[in-house]
Amino acid sequence: MTDVRPSADGVLHTLFGSEQGGHEQVVLCQDRETGLKAVIAIHSTALGPALGGTRFYPYASEEEAVRDALNLSRGMSYKNALAGLDHGGGKAVIIGDPDLIKSEQLLMAYGRFVASLGGLYVTACDVGTYVQDMDVVARESRWTTGRSPEQGGAGDSSVLTAFGVFQGMRAAAQTQWGEPTLRGRRVGVAGVGKVGHYLVEHLVEDGAEVVITDVRAEAVQRIIARHPQVTAVSDADVLVRTPLDVYAPCALGGALDDATVAALTATVVCGAANNQLAHPGVEKDLADRGILYAPDYVVNAGGVIQVADELHGFDFDRAKAKATTIFDTTLAIFDRAKADGIPPAVAADRIAEQRMAEARQRTAEARAVAASTAATDVTVAAEAALVAER
Ligand SMILES: NC(=O)c1ccc[n+]([C@@H]2O[C@H](COP(=O)([O-])OP(=O)(O)OC[C@H]3O[C@@H](n4cnc5c(N)ncnc54)[C@H](O)[C@@H]3O)[C@@H](O)[C@H]2O)c1
Repeated sequence: MTDVRPSADGVLHTLFGSEQGGHEQVVLCQDRETGLKAVIAIHSTALGPALGGTRFYPYASEEEAVRDALNLSRGMSYKNALAGLDHGGGKAVIIGDPDLIKSEQLLMAYGRFVASLGGLYVTACDVGTYVQDMDVVARESRWTTGRSPEQGGAGDSSVLTAFGVFQGMRAAAQTQWGEPTLRGRRVGVAGVGKVGHYLVEHLVEDGAEVVITDVRAEAVQRIIARHPQVTAVSDADVLVRTPLDVYAPCALGGALDDATVAALTATVVCGAANNQLAHPGVEKDLADRGILYAPDYVVNAGGVIQVADELHGFDFDRAKAKATTIFDTTLAIFDRAKADGIPPAVAADRIAEQRMAEARQRTAEARAVAASTAATDVTVAAEAALVAER
């Protein structure tokens, strides 16, 4: 038999041959009538049905889209595991400019592909898709979350995302200064959009001194009008150099690059933005400088906790109670990091991997029991048949 090997730099190598691989299933979807081209990547169902949003984005190539789906779905396995959800990790991407090709028919065609997986993958909003889009997808697939409240959905997930970030920040304060409060601390929030502005509310209420920045003047004005004691600086570069106790990146990914880490005055970093570490190794640089970094995917899990709740008939209080556990999870990560002498980002990965491994072990044991019970049943039935023949 020929030894088939994927080329070392291709997406198939990522899928089958690299440490980042290990995905269970990747589905390529096409609907010529509507122009839909989508990739649904299921990284793991060890903890339950894979849950993760649908990104609608004008990728430069199909290969780039597949790679993004692979990376994002893997990230969701870790995020869902640490959020304590009974969900594995999945993510879908739709290839194309949503402003040009998004249509009701295209979203419904996409919904039919999601439905064809029979619940193995549960979708939600992501970059380029919105609550109204999920209402359309839901017409074809019951495994859709992130819908509008009118359709039984949870609506805007930034409320609990901000709440979860605040819980993570309290855990960081407890670890760094011995008390789970931001009272009297100076917190810089970069990006006061959907999540950032709710985070400012929690911080002000807790008695923190808040400094903000945003590229949109109206976003800054909205907060200053409500809370005149909040101050604003011109941009994120100025903010990181301002004397701070906590820095909260709540805008774009890659916020923590080498220059930012070198310039940071804060000794805690905890924010909502996804993929804050610009490259591997930044987590160690942060630790070496004595900066406590609360892993982004742990503290920003309030949104996924919220949409996961939708599958059981959305109950805000129940989802909020679950998001409160982000405090304990973040504390446990800091403790593990200290005990093992590793950065918190590495500790978080280890705890997530442990939870997934334990779930796989339980499933294997349950299957073994089921198989032996079935074998016993067959033997008993065969013996009964023999007795009947005699
Ligand atoms: N919304 C959620 O539920 C959720 C959940 C998990 C993670 N996140 C992540 O949190 C981050 C914020 O999400 P959001 O929903 O609040 O998005 P958003 O677009 O509503 O807010 C982002 C804000 O950042 C500002 N901004 C952009 N570039 C900036 C810059 N260079 N400097 C300062 N401000 C800048 C924007 O003007 C905007 O006000 C994103 O990285 C997102 O992926 C959001």
